[in-house]
Amino acid sequence: MNSNLEYNNLLLKKIIENNMSKYLITGVSSGIGKALTKKLISDKQIVWGIARRGQRLKELKEELNNSANFIYTPMDQTEKNCWQSLVNKFKEKNFIPKIIIFNAAISQNDLKNGIEIETLKKMVDVNFLGIMRGINSLIPFAKPGTQFIAISSFSALKGSGIEGIGYAASKAALSIGFESLYQKYKDKGIIFKTIYFGPIGSGMGPFKKIAPFILSEDQAVNCIINSTKSNKAQFFYPKSIFFIFKIIKLLPSNIYFKILSQMESFHLKLKKPLC
Ligand SMILES: NC(=O)c1ccc[n+]([C@@H]2O[C@H](COP(=O)([O-])OP(=O)(O)OC[C@H]3O[C@@H](n4cnc5c(N)ncnc54)[C@H](OP(=O)(O)O)[C@@H]3O)[C@@H](O)[C@H]2O)c1
Repeated sequence: MNSNLEYNNLLLKKIIENNMSKYLITGVSSGIGKALTKKLISDKQIVWGIARRGQRLKELKEELNNSANFIYTPMDQTEKNCWQSLVNKFKEKNFIPKIIIFNAAISQNDLKNGIEIETLKKMVDVNFLGIMRGINSLIPFAKPGTQFIAISSFSALKGSGIEGIGYAASKAALSIGFESLYQKYKDKGIIFKTIYFGPIGSGMGPFKKIAPFILSEDQAVNCIINSTKSNKAQFFYPKSIFFIFKIIKLLPSNIYFKILSQMESFHLKLKKPLC
């Protein structure tokens, strides 16, 4: 009890001195979540990170020189009990995250042999329902000024015969979910933001080569950090690609699908081997 009190007082002192924020970030064991955590810790922010692979989290803590500003919990975000026990840990440590970034996701092709229903279900569970469960557990403790941020994708805007159904559909559901939550909570001072990314040259990025429209991991990290400083609800990176594609979507469907087919052929040329 005493050590908790000391820890809380120390944390409070550090927060005031260094203008720190408390972040909860999902999926910090690899890719963008890991790079974002490293950047925030180097900027003297406080990050509570989650992911399933405990060993990877332990290694990240070591990489961060065992910084007290990085706290982690190995958990699977699809499990409701895990969110509740995470909230209990927050209460114990008086940790009220101000910026919550739902970055964790999985991507698999569920259209290799017909529709692979179990794979599709898993993606919906991790990429959409798990996040909704997390919000349900966290929202009762959210104070005005709290930001909930969803990491969505260009894939949410279109169907694809080569990427499969589940990834795109779960990201579309997540984005719509966040629009609904934005509308519901905007007058209570709790903001729900969605960041849409085109392809990124790290993590689950679909391309084997770096093309001009592909963001680097560092660029993606900076985009997320900049989005936390803005009052807008939606962000598109790179903006030009989303703008052009939204116009293409308004074209007659035969033209739209012709362009989509060409995009898929281009995608196939640059694509990493199938998983
Ligand atoms: N890379 C791209 O080109 C791109 C483009 C657009 C959007 N995005 C989005 O950016 C985000 C990060 O992607 P990334 O490329 O960095 O992918 P990544 O390297 O595969 O990272 C995914 C993270 O999610 C965690 N995770 C997966 N399932 C989980 C679960 N059930 N519970 C808790 N954590 C889980 C993984 O950790 P464990 O395996 O240890 O659990 C990992 O840390 C995703 O939302 C993705 O959709 C990526």
